[in-house]
Amino acid sequence: MKYDVKDLGLARQGKEKIEWADRTMPVLRSIREDFAKRKPLRGVRLAACLHVTTETANLMRTLKAGGAQVVLCASNPLSTQDDTAAALVKEYGIPVFAVHGASNKLYYQHIRAALDLAPHLTMDDGADLVSTLHNERRDLLDDVIGGTEETTTGVIRLRAMAADGALAYPVIAVNDAMTKHFFDNRYGTGQSTFDGILRATNVLIAGMTVVVIGYGWCGRGVAMRAQGLGAKVIVCEIDPVRALEAAMDGFRVMPAIKAAAEGDLFVTVTGNKHVLREEHFRKMKNGAIVCNSGHFNVEIDIPALAKLAKSRKRIREVIDIYRFPDGKEIFLLAEGRLVNLSAAEGHPASVMDMSFANQALASEYLVKRKGKVPLGVHTVPEQIDRKIAALKLRTMGIRIDRLTPEQKEYLSSWQEGT
Ligand code: ADE
Repeated sequence: MKYDVKDLGLARQGKEKIEWADRTMPVLRSIREDFAKRKPLRGVRLAACLHVTTETANLMRTLKAGGAQVVLCASNPLSTQDDTAAALVKEYGIPVFAVHGASNKLYYQHIRAALDLAPHLTMDDGADLVSTLHNERRDLLDDVIGGTEETTTGVIRLRAMAADGALAYPVIAVNDAMTKHFFDNRYGTGQSTFDGILRATNVLIAGMTVVVIGYGWCGRGVAMRAQGLGAKVIVCEIDPVRALEAAMDGFRVMPAIKAAAEGDLFVTVTGNKHVLREEHFRKMKNGAIVCNSGHFNVEIDIPALAKLAKSRKRIREVIDIYRFPDGKEIFLLAEGRLVNLSAAEGHPASVMDMSFANQALASEYLVKRKGKVPLGVHTVPEQIDRKIAALKLRTMGIRIDRLTPEQKEYLSSWQEGT
């Protein structure tokens, strides 16, 4: 078996952590048990490009239990947990190409190594696997049945590919499932972003002015948790409806250039490029902390920050001080990469439980409907989404009401009014 991980000696420790995460992933576990009996992915080659975390490890185990031949590479050079990668190889027999801190060159070498499997299914978090496959390995396209995509940024990229006529096979946007973005993006990002910021800095959030840039599902979560920790929260948003929602959720809303002068801590969660740039850095206060929780490291214009600064110094593992000629200091966390996965361990397992249940069931769906799903980007079928919600509720010991026959009839009738 070919693989590239940092140190197989870390495998034992990685296995303990994977099992720890599995304890709070009951929905995925029940799918794994079912997959092990039915083998719905028998004979399927699946290449996955995901954050190499303990939660992802449990997804890989599930796909393998379903009969798939799987390979995993990283979807971000800083999120790889080397012990998890080692355990997947040594304890679970799953090939992994991922090393924490990989260079850009090695990162893409790993993606190419995963593509050497000649996959029937691709599973992406950010669409780097799909784009490398379409750009460099078109010879493999004929074998591909379909793909799945985990995150907002990846879905945006794939929709752009589809609009361009460039996407060669159907992809399911797992991100768009209700049981994904309502929970993972909001509560997952909300909590794990502060986990990353606090592990990196150990600052007190209470009393700080926190500027959240972007009020999508992730931004909503980050703003909510910042408020819960006692921060004064400012939201910056370009969409008028979302900006209105932020205002009515009780946050101050203003353009980023105005917020730049007020913020103590900035979190970007837009999925867009250079949302913090030279004009903002110039306005920031001495001691401002800047970080990103969006998928790619493009949200903060780091070259512009470096150009403005006189010097850069790493002071803790994931803090870089940029010192300006006038003595002002700006602190950048995790090189502008996802702070929740670079400075912490990503979302908690209990929320990834639902995201990855969607991944597993969407894979089965694509295999079952081989050749029948039209080209393009599709949502997860609603029955899968509702099944996952129902399973999750059951594992949480929560029961809910059902419609009475009279209520069902009422909802399907139109004659009855006041
Ligand atoms: N994305 C966000 N958190 C994650 C996690 N814990 N594992 C995999 N992907 C993630």
